[in-house]
Amino acid sequence: MTGYFIESLIMSVAIQFNCLFNQRLSVHNFSCAFLFRMRESKRGQSSLLTEGAKAELPASNEKFDVDYGVGLHFRSMEPPESPIHNISDTARWVAVYRARESERPDAVFRDPFAQRLAGERGQQIAASMPFAEKNSWPFVARTWLIDRLISEQVRGEIDTVVNLAAGLDARPYRMDLPRSLQWVEVDLPEILAHKEEVLGQEKPVCALERVRLDLSDVHTRRELFLQLGQRANRVLVVTEGLLVYLTAEEAAALGNDLAAQPAFQHWILDLASPALLKMLAKKMGAPLDQAGIPLKFAPETGPEFFTRCGWKPEQIHSLMHAAAKIKRLPLFLRLIAMISPARFQPNRPWSGVCLMGKHR
Ligand SMILES: C[S@@+](CC[C@H](N)C(=O)[O-])C[C@H]1O[C@@H](n2cnc3c(N)ncnc32)[C@H](O)[C@@H]1O
Repeated sequence: MTGYFIESLIMSVAIQFNCLFNQRLSVHNFSCAFLFRMRESKRGQSSLLTEGAKAELPASNEKFDVDYGVGLHFRSMEPPESPIHNISDTARWVAVYRARESERPDAVFRDPFAQRLAGERGQQIAASMPFAEKNSWPFVARTWLIDRLISEQVRGEIDTVVNLAAGLDARPYRMDLPRSLQWVEVDLPEILAHKEEVLGQEKPVCALERVRLDLSDVHTRRELFLQLGQRANRVLVVTEGLLVYLTAEEAAALGNDLAAQPAFQHWILDLASPALLKMLAKKMGAPLDQAGIPLKFAPETGPEFFTRCGWKPEQIHSLMHAAAKIKRLPLFLRLIAMISPARFQPNRPWSGVCLMGKHR
């Protein structure tokens, strides 16, 4: 009870601090609008004063500059065009955080390919997401946790890993994996073509295959799952960074299709709580919404959502607690991690990685 109170207090101070910072930005925007109106009114374009500056602004994405004659140069108040053009650009974006972690002397994993894979576009996308830039620890903790779970699983009886929405993940090249392991990557054609171009000369440590497939094509994905299920004895499925872009119905349908294959024994997924989704939508949702890929999936029931599909959570790891363990949390979150429970709670900002197993 006391822990909950202290946690709420710290959280509220942190949020207030954040609000103050945001208010400064709003005041800045307001000043820009005010100056803009003053200048336009001097020109005699009084419509701007009556209908508001926005009424006369060019259509979105049409950038223009306003020079106030005092050496300051303001950009339009329209949100800048998002450098994220499609869902596969999110793969470039998250690869940036793997590249940065890899450069640290105390890196918890090393991905020597991430920098090249993310490329200039990845850096531009990351730069357009200031909230994620300041809070990149969930991406690092997620990779670290999933690396550990995969290592654990492939030491057991798993003979095939199926990485759905693999993006620019380079685990088959950078992890210590059995040479006999089959690894199948599935993603959209464009991002896999880019990946193959960058990794062309590199050698994976295990048998690697890539399948270009739109996973929303239910009929074709079922055929693929059937084929993979017949070929393998024990499959581990990974869907890192995919589910949040699905609706609840799409996530459940995917869970069902995976569960339908007896050989698909385990599934590693990452999840956000409804409270976190709300926060992320506010703090960094705009460029994703603009690109037509809003964050959607955050089930009230957390990992238990997939029990209806035939999956049960075997391990649940909070990203914040994992990040605390690997020392990637900012100070105030370290305090919160110390006093808050690691378990899923829908009404608190929570994200985690889960190892799901089949219902017997
Ligand atoms: C956030 S990225 C994650 C990539 C990778 N798993 C990682 O963690 O680095 C999301 C990935 O989902 C893929 N994706 C989204 N919708 C998809 C679909 N319908 N079919 C195939 N891949 C899809 C994107 O192309 C992108 O590579």
